[in-house]
Amino acid sequence: MKSEPLLELKDVTHEYRVGGGLGIVGRSTIKALVSVSFSVPSEKPVSIGLIGESGSGKTTIARLILGLLEPTYGKVLYKGKSVSEWLRKNKLAYLKEVQPIFQDPYSIYNPFYRVERILKAPLKKLKIVNDGKAIEDMIISAMKDMGLRPEDILGRYPHQLSGGERQRLMLARILLIKPRLIVADEPVSMIDASLRAIFLDQLRVLKDKIGASCLYITHDLDIANCVADSLIVLCQGNVVEEGSTNEIINEPLHPYTKLLLSSIPAPSPKARWKDRMQLAEATSLSEQARVEKGCIFWPRCPYAMDVCKKERPPMIEVEPGRRVLCFLYVK
Ligand SMILES: Nc1ncnc2c1ncn2[C@@H]1O[C@H](COP(=O)(O)OP(=O)(O)OP(=O)(O)O)[C@@H](O)[C@H]1O
Ligand SMILES: [Mg+2]
Repeated sequence: MKSEPLLELKDVTHEYRVGGGLGIVGRSTIKALVSVSFSVPSEKPVSIGLIGESGSGKTTIARLILGLLEPTYGKVLYKGKSVSEWLRKNKLAYLKEVQPIFQDPYSIYNPFYRVERILKAPLKKLKIVNDGKAIEDMIISAMKDMGLRPEDILGRYPHQLSGGERQRLMLARILLIKPRLIVADEPVSMIDASLRAIFLDQLRVLKDKIGASCLYITHDLDIANCVADSLIVLCQGNVVEEGSTNEIINEPLHPYTKLLLSSIPAPSPKARWKDRMQLAEATSLSEQARVEKGCIFWPRCPYAMDVCKKERPPMIEVEPGRRVLCFLYVK
């Protein structure tokens, strides 16, 4: 029997309510997510890449998992219980198990706390350890593991650290908390390209060390390819494809995924991604119109059929764990 997933999104739709502006009256809603379903298994630690263009709903998913937003429809379940229930009844346990890594770590640190206090605070709050000496030993060892020199850093304030050091501090914090699930939202987009590989490697070491699963959010397929065992592709708030990273990179099914892949340089001139290049030329990435009826991708899709303009495509499970939201795969 399959065990209960660690995390499960069931038909999650999220609408933001926004007011008018610049003389535009009235309120409207922005549908950021449409019937999103996926799960993170609990049997063993996995790394799942959540990939999509800007505005596709990636951060909205992260915020729903972290309980910073409530879904408009559908459910976000952690170990079978809704996130809102966890936060109401067992908040500390949830914070211990599910930890974020943000794009800009500066925004989550209290600017008036020195690094020492930043690292001690969660250990005390989440009741991980109480003994002062044990806390100090743990902090020093976690910092060293993440390539930070405690003697240089412990007495500094967050603004006295480089961007890369602040990111590694976040990794040290996670190493101390030892969550089951890490939700990493574009963690390397604000650090220097030369430091990215080091950070991603440290994240991998960290995950293996504590046996955590990771939902890694990025718009960069190259990075997703490095860090993720499997991928979930988001397009305008819809999951359009899911499968192992290998399968998706080598044989993308959804025309949108093919388009995403075509923006990565092909490995050789005789690229097997040739047809994807042609697809990119045939469509426009800048076309961002939200489609109310039919498939959200049809205006950009070179394979669009009549039915695509009229009906929402079904999610087809081509094989276990390999799903695509497209009429092309209806048998
Ligand atoms: N607080 C908000 N109020 C209203 N609309 C929002 C809000 N946050 C996000 N949106 C809208 O919801 C949609 C999804 O946004 P989201 O931030 O989840 O995208 P994203 O995939 O993380 O994009 P990016 O790659 O640029 O970070 C976008 O259309 C965005 O404009
Ligand atoms: Mg985002």
